[in-house]
Amino acid sequence: MKEEQKDFPLHSFYGDIHASYDRVNRIFTFGRDRSWRKRAAKELLKSQPGRVLDLCTGTGDFLLELARQTDQTARGIKLTGFDFSSEMLKEAQLKQKQFQKGNRQVEIYFMEGDAGEMPFEDGHFDSMGITFGIRNLVYKNSNATKHLAEMSRVMKNGGELVVLESSKPASPLWRIFNGFYLRFILPYLGGLISGNLKAYRYLASSSKNYYTIEEMAKILEVAGFDLILSKSLFLGSVMLLVLQKR
Ligand SMILES: C[S@@+](CC[C@H](N)C(=O)[O-])C[C@H]1O[C@@H](n2cnc3c(N)ncnc32)[C@H](O)[C@@H]1O
Repeated sequence: MKEEQKDFPLHSFYGDIHASYDRVNRIFTFGRDRSWRKRAAKELLKSQPGRVLDLCTGTGDFLLELARQTDQTARGIKLTGFDFSSEMLKEAQLKQKQFQKGNRQVEIYFMEGDAGEMPFEDGHFDSMGITFGIRNLVYKNSNATKHLAEMSRVMKNGGELVVLESSKPASPLWRIFNGFYLRFILPYLGGLISGNLKAYRYLASSSKNYYTIEEMAKILEVAGFDLILSKSLFLGSVMLLVLQKR
């Protein structure tokens, strides 16, 4: 696992970019991020979980997608979004208000806190999703081992973990294009829209140097999760993994 002593100041980064986060996401993924979250939510709901944690929920897009899909199948579910950025959570709560205007019967909670020390009992959640968040918890993060141990602790044995994340493309040609895009376009465009070039340099470089599906699965296997399903999306720039806690 790639660990370094000096961590990027992620907390203040998300505090700075929360207002433009969704807009930049849509632009950078050519609008595809919504369909990836939809697909990840569908996978997570297959096991019909009762209590679900959306770790690193950010502005709540994945959690609200889970809520929407649950609503359609009229199953009761308790969804908790957890994140250490109060600014990102405020954006999520605004969306929650819009969503719940339609009197939907899904329980939704947002909680602020650090993934390295979560206020939940052992085995509390049936399932967990983490979309574009695991990179933050493990890449060049000196608390990586702690984060992974907490993820495993709060999940029940046999529960499913769904991970959606950037990935290193397998095709050499696409890897070159992807690398160019991440190095020369994303940081500057993101910096321009959000006003924070440094933050988008980190985001681009962590995406570019991130893991392949096999590397990610290995890290999670060591943390106690066995791979059930893996899918490569967007020509391999994005991975969707479904794992089961041992
Ligand atoms: C790239 S955003 C992803 C947000 C959302 N899941 C999505 O799909 O767009 C990563 C989120 O992880 C949160 N985060 C990073 N490190 C964290 C930690 N140690 N504890 C809790 N949240 C963390 C950030 O505040 C940010 O909202």
